[in-house]
Amino acid sequence: MAKKIFEPMTALIPLPAVMVSCQKPGDKPNIITIAWTGIACSEPPMLSIGVRKNRFSYDIIKSTGEFVVNLTTRDLARVTDLCGVISGHDEDKFKLTGLTPSPSSKVKVPLIAECPINLECQTRTVLELGSHDLFVAEIVATHIDESVLDDEDHLDIKKLDPLIYCTKTRQYWAGLTQFVGRYGYTAIENRDRKKS
Ligand SMILES: Cc1cc2nc3c(=O)[nH]c(=O)nc-3n(C[C@H](O)[C@H](O)[C@H](O)COP(=O)(O)O)c2cc1C
Repeated sequence: MAKKIFEPMTALIPLPAVMVSCQKPGDKPNIITIAWTGIACSEPPMLSIGVRKNRFSYDIIKSTGEFVVNLTTRDLARVTDLCGVISGHDEDKFKLTGLTPSPSSKVKVPLIAECPINLECQTRTVLELGSHDLFVAEIVATHIDESVLDDEDHLDIKKLDPLIYCTKTRQYWAGLTQFVGRYGYTAIENRDRKKS
């Protein structure tokens, strides 16, 4: 490999592009597209989202401490992009996209019915990092649509067809088709190697 060294950049590839729903009580619900997201802890299950202070959604999420991370798919690419280029300050994004707000089970924020996986979140910590504040939140309920589950209720990645965002190129990709291995498959190979 012949590597070039660049300025520090957020070249962590790929990332999911998720739609985060939020709502202040009595106000219209809103959706913001977020790529700065990731799992932060297993027990309790936690994730983080990075949000700029100037986003319409920022004050909503900061004041309520609640939001829903809605996973996106190839079919939802256009609405995902739209929710990332238009502000809830100017438009009702549920009306604009035709997406359906549906009641959550634990938080007072609607989830997006069309998204196959919805993670209800309650903020535990907010870190001021610079351009973005990082909301570290506990996942308090998880919804998975039956259409992306197999007969044993395991997630079927091909059926899910997740939308993938590549930071450096600012492109959306889809099409995870080639299964490579399962967590720990090399441990089994290693055990067999030692036996022989
Ligand atoms: C693919 C994509 C990823 C984005 N990721 C983030 C992000 O991680 N954090 C953020 O603050 N804004 C992000 N944005 C920008 C916001 O989604 C955008 O500014 C949006 O219009 C804000 O909506 P709001 O003003 O209704 O909150 C992203 C936009 C796109 C298209």
